Amino acid sequence: MKEKIIALLEEISNLRATHADEIESLRLKFLSKKGEISTLFNDFRNVSNEEKREVGQLLNDLKNKAQEKINNLKEQLSSESANDEKLDLTRTAEPIAIGTRHPLSLVKNEIIDIFSRIGFTIAEGPEIEDDWHVFSALNFPPEHPARDMQDTFFIEQNPDIVLRTHTSSVQIRVMNKQKPPIRMLFPGRVYRNEAISYRAHCFFHQVEGLYIDKDVSFAELKQALMYFAKEMFGESTKIRLRPSYFPFTEPSAEMDISCNLCGGKGCAFCKYTGWVEILGCGMVDPNVLENCGIDSKVYSGYAFGMGVERITNLKYQVKDLRMFSENDVRFLDQFKSAY
Ligand code: PHE
Repeated sequence: MKEKIIALLEEISNLRATHADEIESLRLKFLSKKGEISTLFNDFRNVSNEEKREVGQLLNDLKNKAQEKINNLKEQLSSESANDEKLDLTRTAEPIAIGTRHPLSLVKNEIIDIFSRIGFTIAEGPEIEDDWHVFSALNFPPEHPARDMQDTFFIEQNPDIVLRTHTSSVQIRVMNKQKPPIRMLFPGRVYRNEAISYRAHCFFHQVEGLYIDKDVSFAELKQALMYFAKEMFGESTKIRLRPSYFPFTEPSAEMDISCNLCGGKGCAFCKYTGWVEILGCGMVDPNVLENCGIDSKVYSGYAFGMGVERITNLKYQVKDLRMFSENDVRFLDQFKSAY
């Protein structure tokens, strides 16, 4: 009897099962009323008195081990099938959401890239500025009505502090510090006190440019801007310069490009003129150079400034300016580019 029990212990410890059916038949074989272990319990009464104690312990042990083994096999099988559900090797991988660059960053980077190819580098400055850098140094006399051209956010407690209305303030910072030649771009966010609508916002983005050296001419300005327009909007793009006014440039001009939607034939976008305005420009006023300690008899220069939103609208026909600051991923997801 002892040998039988030991043999069964051995057999049970080696049991394997891959199906619930197999486990059930093992349970019937060992643990049911007519199973092998019950039979042994029945035979137990024939065991001699001296052996009863030892054999009894072995039998109980056998019964527990068998029960334990069956339970273990069941557990193993159910956890394996749970794992199988998670591990479907035929499933496609979870797509990784890679963000896209903001359209304004794309276009800003493209503008920078185009001008950097003709030698322009970048400078940045603070968005909270003083009156001197935003207006006075740029030849806006105090109380001059030209200050109204740009609806300024002033700080109530100190009217000397403003949110910059253009990045021309950075031109002043650079000219104060650096001797010509200067060939730089000034990208950044600017603020104007305008009611928010589909066509105006209280903040927007600019890239301005400045080139100062000996004998810089208006012809060079025109050439640089024509190069930019063709790089940005295509080889067939035409430009035209209209006389304009800015306190810090003389002469001043506004530049139009042939409408990139209709190719200049006239459409609703260009109000049937064939032209759309893209930037302001001009020769740096000698007063501005002198304000920054640059000798206007030796040096001359040109400057230009454009709104990044405007260029982006022309490139991508974004109809509502507010979309740029709403962070709607359905809008942002549409912009993919090398920049
Ligand atoms: N600073 C001007 C603006 O914000 C743009 C400009 C820059 C015009 C440089 C001429 C020269 O409107």
